[in-house]
Amino acid sequence: MKNFYITTAIDYANGSPHLGHAYEKVLADVVARTQRLQGQKVHFLTGLDEHGQKVQQSARKEGVEPQALCDSIADEFTGMCRDLDISNDDYVRTTEPRHKRIVQKILQDLYDRGEIYKAEYKGYYSVRQEQFVQEKDKEDGEWPELFGEVTEITEENYFFKLSNYQDWLIDWLKSDEEVIFPAYRTKQVLEFLKDPLNDLCISRPKERLEWGIELPFDSGYVTYVWFDALVNYISAIGYGEDHFDKNWPVDHHIIGKDILVPAHAIYWPIMLKAAGLPLPKGYLVHGWWMMKGAKMSKSSGETLDPLELAQKYGADTFRYFVMREMTIGQDSDFSQELFSTRYTAELANDLGNLVSRFLNMTSRYSQGKVPVSTIDEDPEKNVRENWAATHAEYISQFSKFGFNRGLEKLFEFIRGLNQYAGLREPWKLAKSDDPSDAEKVSTALAVMGEGLRLSACLLTPVMPTISSKILELLGSSSCDTWDDRLCWGNSLDGAVVGEKVILFPRIED
Ligand code: MSP
Repeated sequence: MKNFYITTAIDYANGSPHLGHAYEKVLADVVARTQRLQGQKVHFLTGLDEHGQKVQQSARKEGVEPQALCDSIADEFTGMCRDLDISNDDYVRTTEPRHKRIVQKILQDLYDRGEIYKAEYKGYYSVRQEQFVQEKDKEDGEWPELFGEVTEITEENYFFKLSNYQDWLIDWLKSDEEVIFPAYRTKQVLEFLKDPLNDLCISRPKERLEWGIELPFDSGYVTYVWFDALVNYISAIGYGEDHFDKNWPVDHHIIGKDILVPAHAIYWPIMLKAAGLPLPKGYLVHGWWMMKGAKMSKSSGETLDPLELAQKYGADTFRYFVMREMTIGQDSDFSQELFSTRYTAELANDLGNLVSRFLNMTSRYSQGKVPVSTIDEDPEKNVRENWAATHAEYISQFSKFGFNRGLEKLFEFIRGLNQYAGLREPWKLAKSDDPSDAEKVSTALAVMGEGLRLSACLLTPVMPTISSKILELLGSSSCDTWDDRLCWGNSLDGAVVGEKVILFPRIED
């Protein structure tokens, strides 16, 4: 059976990871873990984009070899994945031989088929963007700041026949409205395609850029970064080898909105089509994390070290926050206040409190063992009905990338469990001699325990460590598959619960 294959963008090796990079990995990880819990075999790839002018320049500035700079940045990015509990199956670096070999193979294939040709090119070149720009890119007669220094140059280069595929690309995008999520982004791509496509210049003379993959048919040139970077999605899974179909075509390319057009929605499908390969099944395009109204990025100077947050509050808290806060497709402003508010209100007060109340009462009123539920009155029925609605809504939202809405619904259910405890008041009934009150205490504990068990199972893809911890405290095993573990039942009967712990300690800011 084919694996469910998901990829993230590969990050530029010209700076340290920030919240934007971390978010994309967490998002992809939540998709991967959700699929695994639903019984899919997943292949999850992420990696590092190491070539290009910016890396060459940064290395020069620091007085080190580009490879040495990339190695140290790769350590930072892989360290981030480890610290955020990202369950990627592979990590590809574009300086690896396995990648370079495939880039050269594709370039040679396309060259042999006449899809790549050499021509003289005269035009304006943006050093910062490493691309040729046109008069029409000017704003009020000036080159926008984004391009940095723009100079006129003439040089011989190699070009890829993008323009031949324009009509085909438009048909493909129109034929499959689901391929890009959110769907409104397809319109942006089609808008871009209203103007005729130019062929893509895919080479850089070595005098201008050394740090790249050499063209197999002309050693005087290296290939343009996008032609190198995009190929990671197939080089890492063994393009040209038997097992390639096990993963390809990709189910979701997970990327930020800045790199959809033209790279992922124009260059990439055309490269695949020209190489005779199946097209991606989906793109999941997220918005930006902003800080003080600006996109968080190395160049804006507004960055936030995700690992500082994860160290202070725990990786799972970080994961919860970004998934709860961002609506896929839209931008989100990061603020420390919002982070602290969600931490305190939702994680510490709603979830953490419920866990400690349950453990405390089970130890005091039931010798540390989850009792049997024997009563089924309106409060219990309500909790069960809420569970059924929550479960259905959560799964449905997660299947259409509405992670924030799914989590919102789950936390409503968790608050409902706290309210249920408030209604049953086992701490008062435990003092009574009436046997029917004892049954109510047992039932209340059993219902709270079961509700918590199910909540922890649903939370697993977002908060894998905390969920396992909660399940362990409840005397249950960690949740490896959703299946029937999401059915309301009595699976905790007699389970020995753990000692009371504080899962989300109060943070002094
Ligand atoms: N190297 C290219 C991608 C090549 S993919 C074949 C690149 N690298 S990047 O480091 O600039 O960005 C990597 C990913 O992080 C992109 O998907 C980008 O959209 C995402 N983010 C970078 N800054 C971001 C935010 N401030 N917010 C959310 N994600 C953003 O582009």
